[in-house]
Amino acid sequence: MSAAPLIRTIGLGKVYAPGTEAEVVALDNVDLEIAHGEFVSIMGASGSGKSTLMNIIGCLDRPTAGRYECDGVDVSSLDAEETARLRLEKIGFIFQGFNLLSRMDALHNVMMPLSYSNTPLAERAARARQALEAVGLGGRTQHKPGEMSGGQQQRVSIARAMINNPPLLLADEPTGALDSKTGEDVLRLFESLKDQGHTIVLITHDPEIARHADRVCVMKDGALQEGDHPLGERRPGESRPADGRAGAPA
Ligand SMILES: Nc1ncnc2c1ncn2[C@@H]1O[C@H](COP(=O)(O)OP(=O)(O)O)[C@@H](O)[C@H]1O
Ligand SMILES: [Mg+2]
Repeated sequence: MSAAPLIRTIGLGKVYAPGTEAEVVALDNVDLEIAHGEFVSIMGASGSGKSTLMNIIGCLDRPTAGRYECDGVDVSSLDAEETARLRLEKIGFIFQGFNLLSRMDALHNVMMPLSYSNTPLAERAARARQALEAVGLGGRTQHKPGEMSGGQQQRVSIARAMINNPPLLLADEPTGALDSKTGEDVLRLFESLKDQGHTIVLITHDPEIARHADRVCVMKDGALQEGDHPLGERRPGESRPADGRAGAPA
């Protein structure tokens, strides 16, 4: 484990279609630090810039201003191949819509990230089977996504994200397509991954989901506010309600 934070952004900005009528400032001067082993939520309304931030943290997109350091490495200094390797080694992705390949069974979906490595086929299959067992799906290796429930599909995608044992798990609205009970199961899996030492960044518009994290950051109009209170914003001078719920019915 290195001394640098796993994630550090400095004055990060992202403008889409700059200089045109369609210009959008999606990120505005975002400073964010996430240490190894933290479980952090990034919460905000739709359009506040959460996915834009996740795409930059995940090295899927580049900022138009500022700097992003992943585990001490300035990502802008990497070429395309080095960036792809960093992504493969350090980051697992979870999406709201699972993003599984519908024609492949669970085992082959989970094996996918290993196809970029020199791992022999038999070992890839063995590791994928193990990863599926770890998310409670040892009995579903030959099921295709369409033959599984939403919660099962999301667990397959978690197994896929973790197959290279990356330090960082980035999840963008991972429970958005699930009922609340199934969503809780997915959040429990994240908690156990945190207990195993992984760093989790959970993106959500839902305060009830965000509160599972140890720390909650709030995005508003592309700007990040560090918050400790996922269930409502406090105005200056307003004290925190005793039960921790702002705006709860009296
Ligand atoms: N590829 C894109 N091109 C232009 N505008 C975009 C693009 N992606 C997102 N935006 C805009 O940037 C803002 C932030 O979007 P996004 O990061 O997806 O927010 P969130 O994930 O919080 O809903 C929104 O106004 C959105 O319309
Ligand atoms: Mg989004």
